[in-house]
Amino acid sequence: RRLQDAEPLHWSPVLKSWILTRYDDVKQVALNRDMSPDRLTPFFKTLPDAQRSILQEVIRYLNLWLVFRDPPEHTRLRRLLQAAFTPRAIEGLRPNIASLVEELLDRLEERSKTQGRVDLIADFAMLLPALVIMDMLGVPRDKLADIKAWSDDMVVFIGSARGVPDKYERARHGAQQMSGFFRGLIAERRAEPREDFISALIAARDETAADGPERLSEDELVATCMLLLFAGHETTTNLIGNAALMLMRNPEQREKLQARPDLIVGAVEEFLRYDGPSNSLARVVATTHEMHGATLKEGERVFAMLNAANRDPRQFEDADRLDIERSPNRHLTFGQGIHFCLGATLARNEGQLAINGLLERFPHMRPAEDEPEQWMDALIMRGMRRLPV
Ligand code: HEM
Repeated sequence: RRLQDAEPLHWSPVLKSWILTRYDDVKQVALNRDMSPDRLTPFFKTLPDAQRSILQEVIRYLNLWLVFRDPPEHTRLRRLLQAAFTPRAIEGLRPNIASLVEELLDRLEERSKTQGRVDLIADFAMLLPALVIMDMLGVPRDKLADIKAWSDDMVVFIGSARGVPDKYERARHGAQQMSGFFRGLIAERRAEPREDFISALIAARDETAADGPERLSEDELVATCMLLLFAGHETTTNLIGNAALMLMRNPEQREKLQARPDLIVGAVEEFLRYDGPSNSLARVVATTHEMHGATLKEGERVFAMLNAANRDPRQFEDADRLDIERSPNRHLTFGQGIHFCLGATLARNEGQLAINGLLERFPHMRPAEDEPEQWMDALIMRGMRRLPV
């Protein structure tokens, strides 16, 4: 709030980046073509040759993630992904999500009966999105532990963790394992297509392309599978975890939702606004320009803080109050413009089913008194590592 009022454009010497916190500014960053999401290219340029060569295998795939690309590459990739992400395909996943929620709640109930206490993150919020995205891609469920290990290896790099020894070697190892696995799965689906997302991505065509129908290349297919795994996992875990904590801390809102489960659609929008899972959009200034009386120079980094924007009193009445019936609620949690989250409907469905399921099954759930929740120390993400209940 102090930054929003007194210093809407703030230079952080620690992050060596600009920080924006007002709703209108954050929205502009997402819509503005003077800001590029490609923060990889400048970063890789700064690496010594030895490190760059270790990371070659990681760069190869990350460079093909549409979330880091500008038009025209972004436009082409987005069209091809959208051909597979049809509303029908996403709605078709709902029954599967509902039965997964029931299955995981059964296990949680069992565990809470024997142990009295569970960790809502590890025992529920992390499992649901991981299994949903694996089912969607057609990855066998017994691969969960491998996928988790490879992602953890890659995350030490993507999260640019400090103080992790050999983090680039670990990232390379994770990327090699994961890409090898998806390459194999793609070959299987090419030979025998199924009703899964990988088969749909293989078949996706962009008929509007100027030089004839376009498809995703082999490397693009591998990279896209990896991206979906990352993009769809931790964010949705945070949505479920943060929402559960918000409700435990706001008994009157919780009782309202328990009495009227049909309010869940708007309630999830409010959870996304009030304490959203993705804390910021990261951009690099592509063209030098002025903002709030300062010059943003080409190549400088910008963080547009989504959660701050979502509490900006200039946009939201009584912004610090959790109100599951808030309307209108134009939060920015899924971004804006051409990079607007492709998985928003899927994440919303998961959040709605998970939260209503939790409230119904555990109407008296409360945080463990002697073991507080543990938040992640991260700028991009807002979520917990542990939530003992
Ligand atoms: C993009 C948030 C879940 C796939 C984004 C962006 C945000 C976001 C803020 C824009 C990034 C930017 O402009 O730099 C979230 C949140 C989620 C969530 C808060 C959960 C609550 C998912 C899921 C999937 C997914 C479940 C896929 C299964 C994507 C993809 C993009 C994206 C592919 C890139 C779109 C593009 O660049 O055109 N997401 N996401 N997300 N998200 Fe999500």
